[in-house]
Amino acid sequence: MYKEVKKNTSAISSFQSITKDILSNDTFKTLDSFVHHRHISILEHSIHVAFRSYLLAKKLSIDPSSTARGALLHDFYLYDWHQRNPESKTGIQLHGFKHPKVALNNAKHHFDINAVEADIIEKHMWPLTIHKLPRYKASLLVLWVDKYCSFREITHQETRSFVKQLVVEVYSFEDR
Ligand SMILES: [Fe+2]
Ligand SMILES: [Fe+2]
Repeated sequence: MYKEVKKNTSAISSFQSITKDILSNDTFKTLDSFVHHRHISILEHSIHVAFRSYLLAKKLSIDPSSTARGALLHDFYLYDWHQRNPESKTGIQLHGFKHPKVALNNAKHHFDINAVEADIIEKHMWPLTIHKLPRYKASLLVLWVDKYCSFREITHQETRSFVKQLVVEVYSFEDR
């Protein structure tokens, strides 16, 4: 995968031009302060999912722009899901069920998103959220890429270093 990125620097720059407004948004950047899986922040995970989804969407001719933007915002929930919720009776947040809606509300608040992007965000936990059936091919693509990336981030050391390098390249348009 990393070779594919290095070979194809135009994929990074086209990804940047599609997603630059999201990547440079200050609220979006705070996702880097929340741990997602082990040593991977939500920001890193979101870029990982978005870039892999973008490459696949281009290959399959499935609306690469909406796929990249929706995937980038799929976990835009702005809290640490490992923390127990003192306001809930059980102390458990049921994060898996609830965070797609939280991410969708945040995405709508901060960005102008289209119907495909909204569907990608809201349905990405399917089949856990059994009643939220994905409506578009892009939504199906992102929900599988999300599961694949999460598995790789948890289990593969080389994936973690790849993701960190990918984030540096994706943010090459600004000084971080
Ligand atoms: Fe998620
Ligand atoms: Fe995710």
